[in-house]
Amino acid sequence: MTRLLIVGCGFPQLSLVRAAKRMGLQVLGADRDPRAVAVKYCDEFFEVSAGDPDAVLDVVRQARPDAITTTGSEVPLKATATVAARAGLPFYADPETVRLCQDKDAMRAGYAAAGLAVPAFARCESLDEAIAFADKRGFPIVVKPSRGWGQRGVARVENLEQLRQAFGEARSHSATAGLPSAMVEEWLEGREVSVNGWIEDGSLVSYCVTERVTVPGNKPLGVMIAEVYPSGLSPADEARAIDEARRGAVALGHTRGPCYSQVAVGPRGCFLFETAARLGGGFDADVTRLASGVDLYERLIGIAVVDTTLERRGPTSSAHGAAIAKFLVGAPGAVTAVKGLDDARAVEGVDDAEVFVPVGGRVFPLTDSAKRAAYVLAHGAHRAEAMARADAALARIRIDTRPDSSVGVKADPPAGAIP
Ligand SMILES: Nc1ncnc2c1ncn2[C@@H]1O[C@H](COP(=O)(O)OP(=O)(O)O)[C@@H](O)[C@H]1O
Ligand SMILES: [Mg+2]
Repeated sequence: MTRLLIVGCGFPQLSLVRAAKRMGLQVLGADRDPRAVAVKYCDEFFEVSAGDPDAVLDVVRQARPDAITTTGSEVPLKATATVAARAGLPFYADPETVRLCQDKDAMRAGYAAAGLAVPAFARCESLDEAIAFADKRGFPIVVKPSRGWGQRGVARVENLEQLRQAFGEARSHSATAGLPSAMVEEWLEGREVSVNGWIEDGSLVSYCVTERVTVPGNKPLGVMIAEVYPSGLSPADEARAIDEARRGAVALGHTRGPCYSQVAVGPRGCFLFETAARLGGGFDADVTRLASGVDLYERLIGIAVVDTTLERRGPTSSAHGAAIAKFLVGAPGAVTAVKGLDDARAVEGVDDAEVFVPVGGRVFPLTDSAKRAAYVLAHGAHRAEAMARADAALARIRIDTRPDSSVGVKADPPAGAIP
């Protein structure tokens, strides 16, 4: 039986782990957290940080998997690309390509060199440089870690006071990832969509474009609360967004496999927020499967196990008129009870529902996307139907928490399902 090591067992990897099990593979999981939501589906589990390539390489040497892969988040992606290269296991991208699709200044520079539109931006080592940028461009501006992910440390700032604070936080986030600087950039007006792409023969094919609905508030900025298909863009705008995603992948040298792009579509045209050399981390590939019938998780596994038929497989299930993945933001504190999951799953048109935090675990304030607590996946004949089904299911889920004053960080958005 083929043994597949999946790096990371959190909710971004949950559907991949399940797909591998469905396909009859022996699944080895690696994660720092033994209570991570996908651990229970793994045949073997290794308690090591998914972001530590040395530790993951030790797992490879010890457990001798035939294949390795990951999805959905940047930290395991970097480690997986590194370990695959060192251990001689197949992966779709080398570590340098992954780096270019992660470091925000390298990414922006790559876009600009290829002639793509980029917002005015500056990589700043010091607050003074950031202030100089703000003086020149005016507020609002966006501050983010040069090396960051999951909206950790991303903020929209309206004045000098907020800039001071956000800059320090963004730079320190980036410093812990080995790059002590922060990006400041122009605020982009418009709607945000995700292009769920797959690069075939060097060129990106889009399997689904979703509207990326984000939580209200300036800090953290842009945490996704729902991915909705259809996107609501006109066919012409959607084609532009896909084209921008395709050009972005070419600009960064990403030539094979999963490509998840976030695109702002506004009055001044399309701008890429970023190109990720992976599938989306918010059940985006599940929405894509409901929208197109194509299972991108199976394709990922196809690459890992060197099965080119699987890597290129077309639709395997029927396509629906609309689909949505929507998250629940929990009230911070220690989890005392989880209720209503089966009721949520029983709602018509609901394909999946999961709570990511177990009883005895902890819901953290929403400082970044990893802190989301539960989700539902639903389809419908049209957008309104899929959205209503998701809301009905989310309304049945309850995560009871005991507030804990020792969890000090305050976030803007309210807890609960966001309409
Ligand atoms: N310049 C900007 N203008 C408006 N919104 C932005 C801007 N930059 C980022 N955002 C919002 O913040 C989110 C996170 O930014 P991003 O650069 O993708 O950081 P991360 O890699 O942490 O996801 C984006 O998806 C978008 O919603
Ligand atoms: Mg992003």
